Amino acid sequence: MRLAKFLAHAGVASRRGAEEIIRAGRVTIADERVTDPARDVDADSGVAVDGRFLEGPEERMVFIVHKPPGVLSTARDTHGRRTVIDLVPAAGARLYPVGRLDVDSTGLILVTNDGDLAQRMTHPSFEVPRTYRATVRPSPVPEHALRTLREGVDLDDGRTLPAKVRQVKPGLLELTIREGRNHQVKRMCEAVGHRVRTLQRIRFGALRLDELPEGAHRRLKASEVEGLRQGGAPTGR
Ligand code: URA
Repeated sequence: MRLAKFLAHAGVASRRGAEEIIRAGRVTIADERVTDPARDVDADSGVAVDGRFLEGPEERMVFIVHKPPGVLSTARDTHGRRTVIDLVPAAGARLYPVGRLDVDSTGLILVTNDGDLAQRMTHPSFEVPRTYRATVRPSPVPEHALRTLREGVDLDDGRTLPAKVRQVKPGLLELTIREGRNHQVKRMCEAVGHRVRTLQRIRFGALRLDELPEGAHRRLKASEVEGLRQGGAPTGR
């Protein structure tokens, strides 16, 4: 099996994340540093990350977390700040977040050790929908700006895909986008002359934040995980 896939199956990171870890020189095979993600390995190869041997696949776990503001959506922070992983006590499992939310953003984020699922949810080719609620200023947002947001906005990394956008009430937008570029919602709104003051993700694929309190988490049922793998459309509204 390819080394990157092996790491993903062992719950280290998504496949893409595993490739970065390998290229960064953090992986050894039988004490020899390896930087080629395509190296062929198996459970007897003696694969270690940061000097810690991988003991084969962990039980797969997927959690939905309601990220509060000020909490980071990285797996670790070099300055010891709180991360979404700290909100999910799961003894010994190597969990990591699926995708990113800005530190001041809130709402739905997934945390898992399932590299295939992380890939399924974040790879641009799957165009998994994410829905956000954004409060913006100035308010209200005029119809021509809403139309531009829906049709596609020219950003410095290219035009955005068509989006669903409605103004729930003056200055409160609900946007569904099928991409996960850095600061995408903030940049889209800025491009049409509006600054995002608060941003919350309320849906990701078939999952909804619903009544999960801020800071809380819950483990997804097998049927919910299967729904994500099959790429179920968001329900309701
Ligand atoms: N878009 C943003 O601008 N920020 C986020 O956290 C998520 C989407």
